[in-house]
Amino acid sequence: MTVEINSLTRLYAVFGDPVAHSLSPAMHNRAFTHIGENAAYMAFRVKDVQGAVRAIRAFDMGGASVTIPHKISVMEHLDEVDETARAMGAVNTIVNDQGRLIGKNSDCLGAVKAIQEKTPVKGKDVVVIGAGGAARAVIYGLKQEGARVTIVNRTMEKGAQLAEELGVDFQPMEDLGKLDCRIAVNATSVGMVPNVQDSPAPASLFNKEMLAMDIVYRPLLTRFLSDARDAGCTIVDGIAMFVYQGASQFEWWTGKEAPVAQMRETVETILG
Ligand code: ATR
Repeated sequence: MTVEINSLTRLYAVFGDPVAHSLSPAMHNRAFTHIGENAAYMAFRVKDVQGAVRAIRAFDMGGASVTIPHKISVMEHLDEVDETARAMGAVNTIVNDQGRLIGKNSDCLGAVKAIQEKTPVKGKDVVVIGAGGAARAVIYGLKQEGARVTIVNRTMEKGAQLAEELGVDFQPMEDLGKLDCRIAVNATSVGMVPNVQDSPAPASLFNKEMLAMDIVYRPLLTRFLSDARDAGCTIVDGIAMFVYQGASQFEWWTGKEAPVAQMRETVETILG
């Protein structure tokens, strides 16, 4: 099915700087086209985030994705920031609800859905490596689903502080290989191109009962995931979280089920 741009087309966009390498336009346009939604999605390099939010109102856009460096500063220009986005301290999605602009964050749901596609998380012991913004989203989402989360982080104070704030456990990095868990998530940038030989975890962490997820998607098969696969783990790559956070955005905007398989195929094709 193809959708032609006409006088009824609803506009969506990503606001960020830089945005030239964003995968979101291709992914969302494929999704709109696949379900026959009369909508189009652009990438706008934005310096003036207040102006960009005004444009949503002026053009009655359906909504927007928000990325670096605007995820925090955009909040003051919106009519409402929902509970999850407030807990993240970051908005990555704006929904135009009949003129009210609502700030949301789809990363928590993205992480949860990427894992739940393979295994339920309720009651499971999960180790999350990292204590930055991505880790916060993964931990918050998993905890809400009833997982028992332990944070491990290179910088102890940062990890311990996030653990206390989110009401989860903390363990020092050197104990990582000894921890007993069913799900392990790399929420650091370790292993990303060009440092593809690096992993934040020793291979001894993994066993065949486990699921391992990485938020890194360049490369698709990180050292963390290849060690996990060699140990017999189920693996969830970084594209999964990216696609599912996009799927949540899509569903908030359109009220329709996101065509996840087509979205994933589009991203995989671009990443080669
Ligand atoms: P993001 O918001 O994308 O998650 P961030 O806030 O910079 O990014 O967080 C990056 C995370 O990766 C942190 O947990 C960081 O550990 P520190 O708190 O010790 O800085 C982790 N990280 C980055 N490089 C690392 C490395 N070489 N070894 C271990 N952890 C690393």
